[in-house]
Amino acid sequence: MNLSRIFRRSVRPVALSLDPQLRREIRQSFDEAASDEEHFPSTIDPRILHVQVLLRFFAPIGNKRLLDVGCGKGRYARVLLEQNNAARVTGFDISERMLNCVPPGIGKVSGIMTELPFADSSFDGVYATESLEHAVDIELAVVEMCRILRPGGKLAIIDKNAEQWGRLKTPAWERWFSRRELENLLSCYCRIVRSEPISYWDDEKPDGLFFVWYAEK
Ligand SMILES: C[S@@+](CC[C@H](N)C(=O)[O-])C[C@H]1O[C@@H](n2cnc3c(N)ncnc32)[C@H](O)[C@@H]1O
Repeated sequence: MNLSRIFRRSVRPVALSLDPQLRREIRQSFDEAASDEEHFPSTIDPRILHVQVLLRFFAPIGNKRLLDVGCGKGRYARVLLEQNNAARVTGFDISERMLNCVPPGIGKVSGIMTELPFADSSFDGVYATESLEHAVDIELAVVEMCRILRPGGKLAIIDKNAEQWGRLKTPAWERWFSRRELENLLSCYCRIVRSEPISYWDDEKPDGLFFVWYAEK
């Protein structure tokens, strides 16, 4: 099956490839961003829906092995662990400086999400919040996330909607995807796939910027 055709037919064309120079550029950019606590905070209010949907989706968390892909300073991983002491949570990120801010108790692994340094089927749950958009090769990153998920494991992705492209300032490598194209891609590797628009707060209607995609392998 030609996955590139499935995924790329409706996507904004991108001429970039994740060569060593671009990897360095992305890493450096996020290393610098690590000192910007206003735009890249270390904590998140657990009542925010982006956190709540993960807590609900992975429940019961118990001692599950969870991987936060592109974890930044680990603000989501922090809440998941605080609310589930037995969970085995790992944060993965391209930026060592971001990882330095991840709180104790959470595993830290650096690298790029298109080459995840984990064995097949090694996690019960994998999630990526506002990080897949930086993968450059989105398709390969999804393939990798699904590879390291065990059969029956769950994957959640929270990211921005391609139809809203232009609404925010973005670096040259960033790419947003549509609801359907990511659903189609996930369906190649997972049995159950769905998505929904998401807002920050329970009493706010989604404004179309964010979706959450859920998949079960
Ligand atoms: C916008 S931040 C989001 C951080 C975190 N998920 C959160 O919501 O707080 C994007 C993160 O993805 C990481 N990242 C970008 N490209 C990456 C790649 N190719 N592989 C792994 N991590 C990457 C960045 O270093 C950064 O920490």
